[in-house]
Amino acid sequence: KKVLFSGMQATGNLTLGNYLGALKNWVGLCDEYECFYSVVDMHSITVRQDPATLRKRARTLLMIYIAAGIDPEKNCLYYQSHVSGHAELAWILNCFTYMGELNRMTQFKDKSAKHADNINAGLFTYPVLMAADILLYQADVVPVGIDQMQHLELTRDIAQRFNGIYGDVFTIPEAYVGKVGAKIMSLQDPSRKMSKSDENPNASIYLMDDPDTIIRKCKRAVTDSEGQILYREEQPGIRNLIDIYSACTGKTPEEVVKEFDGKGYGDFKLAVGESVVSVLKPLQDRFADLEKNKDYIDRIIKENAEKAGYVANKTLRKVQKKVGFPERI
Ligand code: TYM
Repeated sequence: KKVLFSGMQATGNLTLGNYLGALKNWVGLCDEYECFYSVVDMHSITVRQDPATLRKRARTLLMIYIAAGIDPEKNCLYYQSHVSGHAELAWILNCFTYMGELNRMTQFKDKSAKHADNINAGLFTYPVLMAADILLYQADVVPVGIDQMQHLELTRDIAQRFNGIYGDVFTIPEAYVGKVGAKIMSLQDPSRKMSKSDENPNASIYLMDDPDTIIRKCKRAVTDSEGQILYREEQPGIRNLIDIYSACTGKTPEEVVKEFDGKGYGDFKLAVGESVVSVLKPLQDRFADLEKNKDYIDRIIKENAEKAGYVANKTLRKVQKKVGFPERI
């Protein structure tokens, strides 16, 4: 089987963007690939975190993976910090990554503008740790939203550079980006992506929002005064709602436009809200069940960390040998 790797940060509450852009596709790809889904807690500390909150969010995130429909007995769900190989490979890859490449990363530029009081080296080398995540498992495919494409390109460049020097060590990974939902925009400002860190709670739908909240947020979504439901650049708010509806129902944007031909924005927004509820409600119910099952989750965490560690170590040993570290006796 081919290998799939992906991860999410345990920072903030997951949004509908995380779900439609990534998690939903993860579930769909489970059967086809051998999958590793990491809770990337090491990436999270590039911005300051309260320890107790981070720990709680990491566990919640792992449970959300399961609640979304990923079978933890068949797929490897684990915490990045439980597998030391991520940090070890990241160090080696740091030595094969140029400052200029990292300087070009738009996410670094955005984040350092936002956290001007804490532009730490970890924030700068964040994409190298991400490359290590992916390359450790020799991943063939990496399902992500559009905002991670630049990091994935860098991962490929680093892997190719390393292979160019030492022979075929790393599999060169491909991004997997869904047809719809790869870039869900803010409900309050459709020129910006929906983000966990948005201060305006109406801008994002959170995975744990109750049905009434979801519907209210959709009804309040910023649109335009065109009065027609069309899928086009001039109507970014409506286009975003079409993307959401289409990702939640499996209909194409063209079908959605036909379905709502002649209808008003109010009806459409309600339908969008209902479609979101219909995908999030089952996830929320399963999450509530999982919360009653502490021992089960603990076992999953332990077993999967061991499994991930085993696979990661195989690649790590190979890389250490290639670069010339002395062999262990
Ligand atoms: P993170 O935690 O910011 O986001 C997790 C996933 O959600 C996608 N996403 C979106 N998709 C559509 N619309 C949106 N508005 C939206 N917002 C977020 C992201 O593209 C991502 O797929 N650096 C990564 C985590 C990471 C990783 C990795 C991913 C670390 N190592 C290795 C893949 C492979 C991140 O911060 O994602």
